[in-house]
Amino acid sequence: MRIAVVGSGTMGHGIAEVAAMAGMEVKLIDISWDILNRAKERMLDSLKRLHERGTIRETPDTVMSRIEMSVSYDVAKDVDFAIEAVPEILDLKRKVFQELDRVVPKESILATNTSSIPISDIGEITSRKEKVIGMHFFNPPPLMKLVEIIPSKYTSEDVTRSTVELAKKMGKTPVRLRVEVPGFVSNRIFLRLLQEACREVESGEATIEEVDSSARNKLKLPMGIFELADYVGLDVVVDLWKVIVERGASDVKCSSYKEKVDRKELGVKTGKGFYTYPAPGKYSKVSLPAESKVPPERIISLAVNEGAWLIENNIVNAEEIDTVMRLGFNFPKGLLEIADELGLDKILNALREINSRGYEAYSPSPLLVKMVSQGQTGKSSGRGFYTYGKT
Ligand code: 3HC
Repeated sequence: MRIAVVGSGTMGHGIAEVAAMAGMEVKLIDISWDILNRAKERMLDSLKRLHERGTIRETPDTVMSRIEMSVSYDVAKDVDFAIEAVPEILDLKRKVFQELDRVVPKESILATNTSSIPISDIGEITSRKEKVIGMHFFNPPPLMKLVEIIPSKYTSEDVTRSTVELAKKMGKTPVRLRVEVPGFVSNRIFLRLLQEACREVESGEATIEEVDSSARNKLKLPMGIFELADYVGLDVVVDLWKVIVERGASDVKCSSYKEKVDRKELGVKTGKGFYTYPAPGKYSKVSLPAESKVPPERIISLAVNEGAWLIENNIVNAEEIDTVMRLGFNFPKGLLEIADELGLDKILNALREINSRGYEAYSPSPLLVKMVSQGQTGKSSGRGFYTYGKT
């Protein structure tokens, strides 16, 4: 299997590494040798860590020998599959897809790792829109098991099936959306976590550290919400927020992320965001207070409401949402499983209370209201998003 990966930044180099680890022949394309050499160092560093931990048996050099790097698209002339992972600028994606469409064999599939741009808009740029699909990886790709598969309204069923198979061959767990929605499942839910974290702070209810302490210590998430935003990149956060809201999702007034971007403090990649990191590109866990007054149900309330919306609209089911959050964000349990444990009545109360203060985005979803009114308040009642047996 031959794969081209275009773009060797945070996501691209990780995707190339994952494909090579799975035994595939990889062509990694970028615009300069400086960028490609940096990507090579990052892949080697990651492969060394995986080798030391015993996750991979092959030596880093053996895996690297399957990756050919190039500043020319010509190396993609015989690939079976191409994955684009360039910055989230539609004009740039347009240029990349025109090139791929020209060079890559006509029967091959073109995938995009976009986190928010509609797959249909990208497909329309090519002469093979039925062969264009979303294949959304998570940072860092070598560690995160999830790949969201997003067929556009043009993507053929065969192409979707082949992409699901490719993700499995790469050692990943695919979650396939039934209908494309802006931000997919992952980033719609991520956006809601970001929005509530921001509201907590900008309304004066909590500090950044308190929100993150509650996320890490009470919800047991691997990172706080602001910490995760720093890790993903605040420029990426601002972009995905804008794209999802421009395409119809409700907004929450917030300036914190944008102010950081205006100051060029982009998070881990620049060494400073909401927190300070050891060096640009080097993440280390941030220190947080052990105690926090922020109730965990409030932090996830808007995200759970989004989950209910996704179910109501038949985009995915509860299990799929939970797979996305466990394998894409390393949640210790699924978001809806956590909600069931905390109590859906508490989640609904949190939404209603914030909504009553004029935040329209917190208007409870009809599904959540119905569940609570029928007594389906989660684990303690025996039924919530899941059904529980008697203990
Ligand atoms: N390659 C190989 N190994 C790596 C690695 C990489 N890129 N990054 C970290 N590791 C290893 C470390 O070496 C360490 O190994 P060890 O246990 O043998 O020492 C281990 O992973 C744990 O790393 P750290 O000690 O640095 O820190 P953590 O314990 O906090 O783990 C983390 C880091 C796995 C990133 C964890 O914090 C986590 O799961 N965070 C959540 C990440 C997340 O949510 N990602 C999704 C973001 S959203 C997205 O990508 C979508 C986009 O569209 C926005």
